[in-house]
Amino acid sequence: MKDNNSDPDLAGEVDEALAAIAKVVSNRELEALRVSYLGRRGSVTERLKQIGGLPPAQRKAFGQKVNEAKASILAAIKARAGQLGERVRDEELSEDAIDVSLPGRNANQGSIHPVTRSVRRIKNIFGRLGFDVADGPEIEDDFHNFGALNIPEDHPARAMHDTFYVTSDLVLRTHTSPVQVRYMKNHELPIRVIAPGRVYRCDSDVTHTPMFNQVEGLAVGTDVAFSDLKGILIYFVREFFEQDLPVRFRPSYFPFTEPSAEVDMGCVFCDSKGCRVCQHTGWLEILGCGMVHPEVFRHVEIDSEKYTGYAFGMGIERLTMLRYAVDDLRLFFDNELAFLNQFR
Ligand code: DAH
Repeated sequence: MKDNNSDPDLAGEVDEALAAIAKVVSNRELEALRVSYLGRRGSVTERLKQIGGLPPAQRKAFGQKVNEAKASILAAIKARAGQLGERVRDEELSEDAIDVSLPGRNANQGSIHPVTRSVRRIKNIFGRLGFDVADGPEIEDDFHNFGALNIPEDHPARAMHDTFYVTSDLVLRTHTSPVQVRYMKNHELPIRVIAPGRVYRCDSDVTHTPMFNQVEGLAVGTDVAFSDLKGILIYFVREFFEQDLPVRFRPSYFPFTEPSAEVDMGCVFCDSKGCRVCQHTGWLEILGCGMVHPEVFRHVEIDSEKYTGYAFGMGIERLTMLRYAVDDLRLFFDNELAFLNQFR
């Protein structure tokens, strides 16, 4: 900066100041410049103090020049401050910028458990046949699990059920059949319903787990015949396995149905030729069924002279094992991802 105090032309000084201001890169440097020009002892401020020493005729013009110089330096400082602010913002923005071209993080996609898949398929197939879906408590009383189903206290069928007792009157339901009783008590006829759910038996080996799933079926009305039962079950088996399988009904016994039958289907592993899975018979047993016993109707106050019904029950894990050729029931409960991922 020129130190010619008498020189009223401040242009050179202003140019220098503007050049210096343009170069600063931080607010702190800018503030230091401001103080050095415009502060109490700043070079421009000092100029103003010289006014008193000038001949009166020059004072006005000189004062104006200094004020102009002051104004243009101040304006330059303000403009630079604005630019620096913008720079900071730009930096912040570029730091936070999202690179939309980066590969995304892999979302872990789950799969539906095979047993749940089967339940959904079963609901869907019977839904198309006009069946509602019901459920019932997993802790049942003796009446619903046994008594109302014509399995009295001393009945040998109780021994077959390997019951978990909660109290002397409460059990973990050993089958879904008690839902039949509850449903008949609470619904108007005619009835068409399935009831999938968990059941419990004190039993554990390659083909038995203490908890498994069953689905119960029930239809009651004025014109429900055994032929209807045969028709819907054959339809169900073929839809569920998506194959035109042979199906046969074998006479059997259940306390809550009369007559009773067990249903076999052609072995899906050997095309009914006979193999280890079907014990060389060509047939696989898949469910129990029959016409609702009058004694069951009596317990739910349905007139067995006027109404008839059929019922059936099957194990969902077993159906699932046959459909997906799974040979160990316990795989459904281990929940190994390598197993579950196959059911995407
Ligand atoms: N509740 C029987 C069981 O757990 C299965 C069953 C058989 C259910 C025949 C039925 C039926 O509704 O009619 O072994």
